[in-house]
Amino acid sequence: MKLEQNIVTESRDLSNKNLMLEIKDLRKSFGDNHVLNGFNLRLYEGENLVIMGKSGSGKSVMIKCLVGLMQPDSGSVFVMGEDITKLRQLALDELRTEIGFLFQGSALYDSMTVRENLEFPLRRHKHKFGDISDTTKIVTDALKSVGLVHAIDLMPSELSGGMKRRVALARTLILKPKIILYDEPTSGLDPITSKEIIELMRNIQKEYKTSALIITHDVDCARVVAERMILLVDGINYAEGSFNQLLQSKDEKVRAFFK
Ligand SMILES: Nc1ncnc2c1ncn2[C@@H]1O[C@H](COP(=O)(O)OP(=O)(O)O)[C@@H](O)[C@H]1O
Ligand SMILES: [Mg+2]
Repeated sequence: MKLEQNIVTESRDLSNKNLMLEIKDLRKSFGDNHVLNGFNLRLYEGENLVIMGKSGSGKSVMIKCLVGLMQPDSGSVFVMGEDITKLRQLALDELRTEIGFLFQGSALYDSMTVRENLEFPLRRHKHKFGDISDTTKIVTDALKSVGLVHAIDLMPSELSGGMKRRVALARTLILKPKIILYDEPTSGLDPITSKEIIELMRNIQKEYKTSALIITHDVDCARVVAERMILLVDGINYAEGSFNQLLQSKDEKVRAFFK
């Protein structure tokens, strides 16, 4: 039975917006484990798109295919109009600097200070910035965005879990990405710290004008940040719509997300 796929289309008119990411008919299996069975996604400029799926539903596999860390069995992935499966390594690396990741448990380098952790990507991608002589200003600006300027000379071991996540976010921002991918940004955090991170994600969208793909199974996070949502069930985009539209769905698999 064809379920309520595409139950609702976008409430806003997105047709004349630029497409930042597009995934078409993505398939990936591990032996008999068919994880993605024709997943589709479009991320438009400036929007926060939330993907929800239960644990083990293939969210991380999808994001890895998206950034070229994992090879899909079939399907195509376009980043700002470029088919990443057809790009040479150099062009792929170049394109990757436009994408910031906040990976699940994204770790800081324990032996480096906060400042050094943030300088690291800057040095690696020097060519994108030209003059990086004033790294202190660049690092301070990124830390300002996450409210942690005072932590610049601390070691990761001196930071709380929430602060580490914020530093990781600052490290993502330092390359001024056009797209940010968040994989479970609030997992493992207490409710108050989660709220802070969620609030930050909203501020970053405003300040940096980024487009974001947010993968989560945190309903509170989705409620606050999602302008549009996709539910990943059985390896497909099972349902799409705004938070409130999905909340009102009568479909059992959709309702299960909000219980
Ligand atoms: N490298 C891998 N080799 C084999 N199976 C994998 C691999 N990566 C993920 N899987 C399987 O794919 C499924 C989806 O995993 P994942 O995308 O990590 O789930 P989640 O939605 O929780 O992020 C799981 O069943 C997982 O065991
Ligand atoms: Mg995951």
